[in-house]
Amino acid sequence: MVEANNTTVTLQVHRFTPRPERAERARGGSPFAKKSSPFGGGSDSAARRRPRGKQWVQEYTIPARPSDTVLDCLLTIKRTIDPTLAFRYSCGHGMCGSDAAAINGTPTLLCTATVRDWAKQPSTAPEVDDEGFRRTGDETANEPDAPAENIENNIPEGSLGVIELASLPGFPPQRDLIADIDPMLNQIRKLTPYLQADGVLATTAEGKVDVFEYLQNPEQLAKYETLSNCIACGVCEGACPVYAGGDAFVGPAALIWASRFINDSRDTKAMDRMDAIDTADGVAGCQSVRACSRHCPRGIDVGEEMWQIVAKVRER
Ligand code: SF4
Ligand code: FES
Repeated sequence: MVEANNTTVTLQVHRFTPRPERAERARGGSPFAKKSSPFGGGSDSAARRRPRGKQWVQEYTIPARPSDTVLDCLLTIKRTIDPTLAFRYSCGHGMCGSDAAAINGTPTLLCTATVRDWAKQPSTAPEVDDEGFRRTGDETANEPDAPAENIENNIPEGSLGVIELASLPGFPPQRDLIADIDPMLNQIRKLTPYLQADGVLATTAEGKVDVFEYLQNPEQLAKYETLSNCIACGVCEGACPVYAGGDAFVGPAALIWASRFINDSRDTKAMDRMDAIDTADGVAGCQSVRACSRHCPRGIDVGEEMWQIVAKVRER
């Protein structure tokens, strides 16, 4: 069914423009400042790397259909209203993980989130509930059956509602909706995220590389197949209250990658891999909050997998 396009959506975008690096910072910064900083840990320390700059919220109202994705809306804004708006994407259909951001405060992918699911009408409820607790965005977000009619006069007729966007939590913002996910990628890299198997790479009589097979049965494959779907989007890290993009906890994504190879029957380094994560900032850092499970776009029950790998490391 073709949807009529006489509706609009309003995007409230938390924008950020970094301040240009001063000359002395570009040369490596003051040695005195580094020594006296209580946060002066490793090179990935989020506190040290959090950039300074101009922050503001910008509102865009554009024509949109309920089935449009948030990425569609951002592309419309970029092409027709504001070419300076920065966001990152690649595949456009949930495969590359490059466009993770916070929608209404929840980490998720821009390309799979639809206006229908995320646009919210302004609430007429008070800011605090009956017991005096401040209401969270989660209580009003994701109400798929939200009434089409506007409930407040300040929303124009035909509006599908408002969507609030910010860069992925837990990571330093680079510009607008683009977060610096290097801390996560470095943590994954440290845990050697590739197969280390026995086998001698043979060559043919002509000197070409010979192919050799690593046989596996379906049960062996099932142990890590779901884990191998991780696209390193960082959504689980953005949801984790312990992960802070720094050195205190390697984060759920890095542990998922470690677990993927620990559970692979072809890999010969399972013990080394478990040693590498049996640290204060490894499995011991996981507090089993399980917020990481809620929005994984690849359907991985991250919290459950964390639980399994913690048990496996302890039982060794
Ligand atoms: S486990 Fe899921 S949420 Fe976490 S990085 Fe991988 S794909 Fe993204
Ligand atoms: S653009 Fe590739 S996952 Fe969204």
